[in-house]
Amino acid sequence: MKTLLMLVMGWLIMNDALDASGQPPRRSAAVEEKELIAKSPEEQRIVDALKEMWQGERHLNVSAMDGRLLRMLTESCNAQRVVEIGTSTGESALWLAMALRTTGGKLWTHEIDAGRAATARKNFEKAGVNGIITVIEGDAHETVTQHTEPIDILFLDADKEGYIDYLDKLLPLVKPGGLIIAHNMNTRQADPRFVKAITEDKNLETLILLKEGMGLGVTLKKR
Ligand SMILES: C[S@@+](CC[C@H](N)C(=O)[O-])C[C@H]1O[C@@H](n2cnc3c(N)ncnc32)[C@H](O)[C@@H]1O
Repeated sequence: MKTLLMLVMGWLIMNDALDASGQPPRRSAAVEEKELIAKSPEEQRIVDALKEMWQGERHLNVSAMDGRLLRMLTESCNAQRVVEIGTSTGESALWLAMALRTTGGKLWTHEIDAGRAATARKNFEKAGVNGIITVIEGDAHETVTQHTEPIDILFLDADKEGYIDYLDKLLPLVKPGGLIIAHNMNTRQADPRFVKAITEDKNLETLILLKEGMGLGVTLKKR
């Protein structure tokens, strides 16, 4: 009987149901990420510009979590050419620029509203990244036709019903292995035509992340 008890205890410990003292293991709280720690004075300058923007009026900008993911994806695929549709005052562009500082890449960002484009330019200057960002003013449905070079990352964050048109026009330029990242993909806001296009094409692989927020669609253009 004692041997059987010891065998059962051993099995429970091995399977993490009990700790060595025979108690259920203490579970720590969910692991939380910390605030971004800047690695260099240049990165700190971008973080400072973002923090200053967070003190002021919001202009439909991405959350810090969305921004950090954008930066991570951009840096990890060593992106050289990034195209953003929907600059607003430039927060997501600053997150992208944080990555592009490291990869040596460039961002082209489209904005229809002249006032927001002007504010974005000021923010880029403050953050020390205006050398790597080109703001293209005007209706992006027309201005995206300027792009002719391969794109590593296409970030969509403008008129939601326009995503399908941006995809049609720019997908041929997205490199195999490149990403199409779409903001506001939670079910309420996503355009079903766009959702169908990125989820039912055998050449694409899509995940919807950060659904507890605005939802970020991450689509890989397969090789
Ligand atoms: C959600 S905001 C972008 C937020 C920005 N990505 C950020 O996180 O800081 C959407 C922006 O898209 C712009 N926009 C809407 N339709 C557009 C179009 N057809 N062409 C270019 N920009 C457009 C709006 O003026 C607005 O500033």
